[in-house]
Amino acid sequence: MKLMVTGGAGFIGSNFVRYVLDTHTDVHVVNFDALTYAGNLENLAGLEEDSRYAFVRGDISNPDDVQAVFAQYGFDAVLNFAAESHVDRSLHFGAQAFIQTNVLGTQLLLDAARKHDVPRFVQISTDEVYGSLGDDGRFSEATPMGPNNPYSATKAGADFLVRAAEHSHGLDAVITRCSNNYGPYQFPEKLIPLMIANALEGKPLPVYGDGMHVRDWIFVLDHCEAIDTVLRKGVKGEVYNIGSMYDVPNIEIVKLILKHLDKPESLITYVKDRPGHDRRYAMDNTKIRTELGWEPKYTFEQGLKTTIDWYLANGPWLEHVRSGRYLQYYEKLYGDR
Ligand code: NAD
Ligand code: DAU
Repeated sequence: MKLMVTGGAGFIGSNFVRYVLDTHTDVHVVNFDALTYAGNLENLAGLEEDSRYAFVRGDISNPDDVQAVFAQYGFDAVLNFAAESHVDRSLHFGAQAFIQTNVLGTQLLLDAARKHDVPRFVQISTDEVYGSLGDDGRFSEATPMGPNNPYSATKAGADFLVRAAEHSHGLDAVITRCSNNYGPYQFPEKLIPLMIANALEGKPLPVYGDGMHVRDWIFVLDHCEAIDTVLRKGVKGEVYNIGSMYDVPNIEIVKLILKHLDKPESLITYVKDRPGHDRRYAMDNTKIRTELGWEPKYTFEQGLKTTIDWYLANGPWLEHVRSGRYLQYYEKLYGDR
């Protein structure tokens, strides 16, 4: 089985590449990634020599790049992880890059998958497309879309394009919508790795607003296993929510991290809230559990300990990411290629 994994140098994509190669001996992976600030080849260190793995630098929103990779390889499936993924960037630096990659890039991949008769397309989407919940209830696949920030609006746009390609053109496509991930190789702009990195350096931990915004946390390898399950068993045209149903306020997560690292709560600093900050996300994962037989394996305690231990053991990785040193490496290696 030859898989095209877009965005495989990012956090979840790189975990997925490792997971799928470790789990299935008959799988080959082509990792197609533009290497933006979020793409880091150090996330894939050790795979360079694996004959079942290939890296192609390319942009999903560039028709020539997309055409070339589809013409070179006959894919059995496309898994589209590539995205601009950070909400704060979409709010503070503008939506253009998000529209370019998340919307236009997805459409170019859908067109190429149709043209080359790729038998399966998996769109990696997010719970954020549903918007924000009140004090109770959970998102199901039937919850109407209601994205509230530019990032989630572009992810919702991509979901609609995938739906249209399946409905109008018969493309075999499925969509996964997952809650907040955490784990090894996550870029320290997101809550958990940022708090770990700052705590290790004794820097303030910036908590937005009152810290009572709720997210539903899933360990990244549980997400990877769920995607692999949907790839193999998901029904054409269906959407699958993924989450571990561990939903807690941000401040509790931050305090748990400090406790694990034996750092004082005095590092917590409440800062100005994110504009339009979604109050609560919580997933209902009944469909994927009952119809496809997947369920999360990691408790939050296990996942958080694994994650913190990984950051403690991988100081150089964190240092390269924080200093931007890995970007200089790309410049040297690839230049304008
Ligand atoms: P990430 O930002 O860590 O990685 C994104 C990757 O995509 C990077 O390697 C980057 O270089 C690549 N990329 C960006 N633009 C590209 C382009 N135009 N062409 C090719 N490659 C490009 O993101 P992540 O957190 O690993 O998220 C991966 C996917 O999962 C995204 O689609 C995101 O929306 C979705 N998702 C993320 C979470 C989460 O909690 N992080 C939860 C649910 C869904
Ligand atoms: O729900 C899935 C989504 O989770 C994914 O689609 C996104 O790609 C991913 O970035 C993530 O979005 P969030 O906005 O929920 O994640 P983030 O880590 O940025 O923030 C998590 C919560 O923590 C959110 O309520 C904002 C808050 N926060 C975040 C940062 C970076 C803080 O309080 N302080 C911070 O410094």
